Amino acid sequence: MKKIITLFILSVVFAVVCSSQGIDNDNFIVTHGPWLQNLSSTGVTIAWATNKPAIPGISITGTDGSKRFIRNSHYGNVDGGGMEHKVRVEGLVPGTAYKYALNSVQVLKYQAYRVYYGDTLSGKQLTFVTPPEKSDKVTFTIFNDVHELSGKMGSYLQHNNIPLQDFYFFNGDMINYLQEPEQLYRGFIDTAVFYFASVKPFYYIRGNHEARGYAARDLKNYFDYKDDRFYYSFDMGPVHFVVLDCGEDKPDNSKEYYGLADFDTYRQEELVWLKEELKSEAFRKAVHRIVMIHMPVVKAEKQNHAMTWLSTNFGPLLRDAGVDMVFSAHIHRNAYYEKDKSGYGYALLVNSNNSFVEVEADSDRIKALVKDVEGKTISEYIIK
Ligand SMILES: [Fe+2]
Repeated sequence: MKKIITLFILSVVFAVVCSSQGIDNDNFIVTHGPWLQNLSSTGVTIAWATNKPAIPGISITGTDGSKRFIRNSHYGNVDGGGMEHKVRVEGLVPGTAYKYALNSVQVLKYQAYRVYYGDTLSGKQLTFVTPPEKSDKVTFTIFNDVHELSGKMGSYLQHNNIPLQDFYFFNGDMINYLQEPEQLYRGFIDTAVFYFASVKPFYYIRGNHEARGYAARDLKNYFDYKDDRFYYSFDMGPVHFVVLDCGEDKPDNSKEYYGLADFDTYRQEELVWLKEELKSEAFRKAVHRIVMIHMPVVKAEKQNHAMTWLSTNFGPLLRDAGVDMVFSAHIHRNAYYEKDKSGYGYALLVNSNNSFVEVEADSDRIKALVKDVEGKTISEYIIK
């Protein structure tokens, strides 16, 4: 008992001394992450968050033992001072395993002529592998319409062999809207980090719900996108992926948007980009051409404003370019359209809000398994 009383008195004395000296003894911690973004054969972006402002850095070690410490800068200023962090690492060797560790230096005060640093957090070493320049196989999993209910995503992940997948797509509506970063963290990032996102990258495709809320404008603070756009393309294994951004579902002048939507203009800009993309050598020469887009692009009578726009404008372009397969979401039910049923010559797999798609593409075929929250296969599709 005497010991307990002594310890209590000591801790009170320590707290009084600290507060009288103005020392902030609250724990400085990494609150979320890390999660890998925008992985290529030669680069990766590592993102995480701290509970207090910090200067972020990454220590990276190659298989030959060579070490580098990386901080990014923009327009001459080293990145940092906030609580959401992203560090881009370039100059990597294709098909190589790297060890990395987070480095976060707490910023106590950031004044014009004096900066006060606090603790430095050095994270544990984690590993990622850069994709080889050429490979005849790729595997990935698609999640969509989770709407912040990360439990079902966790349930599916518990029942699956995570290390087998090369990467992951979040095909939109992972959140209901974006007002607070906690929606992203609780909604799906923390679950993704727990199961895979520190060692395998994910691509976060916007759905209509990601366009909603004041902080929707800040989405890029948390993720990294190739070419800094929500629509882009990349190659992995035998597949050329074209990622498209569907925008909001209703007409821009709908009362729900309070005059703050301009998605027809945005989709028109995307259309200009898409026309050039479909002419690219990477697209034309790929073994398989896969399009990822939250809203299904399908020929149908009654559709919402955005889906009608996408069907009219994107559909014929994708048909003429020879897209093999489109993966979509949004309608909260499973649907599969054979090549001759989508209206545009490609197979279209629409995944529901309660299932997950595992895809394996090799030089002969694309195989897609639709699985439920317990990891049981619901259906299987093969495109040759
Ligand atoms: Fe949606």
